[in-house]
Amino acid sequence: MIKIAPSMLSCDFSAMANEAKSIENAGADVLHLDVMDGVFVPNISFGIPVIASLRPHTALAFDVHLMITEPERYIERFIEAGADWISVHFEACADIGIALDTIRLNGKRVGLAIKPATPAESIFPYLDRCDYILVMTVEPGFGGQALIPETLDKVRILRGELDRRGLTQVSVEVDGGINEKTAPQAIAAGADILVAGSSIFSAADRRAAIKNLRGEEK
Ligand code: DX5
Ligand code: ZN
Repeated sequence: MIKIAPSMLSCDFSAMANEAKSIENAGADVLHLDVMDGVFVPNISFGIPVIASLRPHTALAFDVHLMITEPERYIERFIEAGADWISVHFEACADIGIALDTIRLNGKRVGLAIKPATPAESIFPYLDRCDYILVMTVEPGFGGQALIPETLDKVRILRGELDRRGLTQVSVEVDGGINEKTAPQAIAAGADILVAGSSIFSAADRRAAIKNLRGEEK
């Protein structure tokens, strides 16, 4: 079952609550929230108070993607703000074990993310501690970029290794440049959660865009 996670980075920030409702009504599975600190990535988006204020406006689970340095410092505060899923970057953690355990001990879904240049094998030691792996299919920081094809090889490697170890319940999420053309490629590579920002928010019919990404008839 393919899940679609629209990224709020491409929404109208002056109307975030309505945008979240629109996405929920359009049939999204989960809401993807991109947190950027201007240090780990060269951009700044939004943080804890914005997520907390959005929480009452939708029943969708919040998939919080932390593109911040040493995310261990803030995980509990994102959980208090309403995060249901949290992904931390392999490259950003001072102590990956502590980051993953903090998410797990708070009863939330545990995600580990990697940038395009990070080999899939780097996170093999942590696979059994995750609920999902987030493979960045663009350089993190900005919406609207083109998918880097080589990143799908890492999706294949990770899906293969997860299956080989019997970790079939662990999902592989792809993030960046996912549209009508690239979604089938990502799914064929083994992704089962697709993040999409610009391709959904710029669509005239968001419901049709989501269905189409999932591979259903419009
Ligand atoms: C980029 C973010 C993505 C981004 C995806 O750093 O992690 O979630 O919003 O945007 P699109 O789908 O437009 O590439
Ligand atoms: Zn993201």
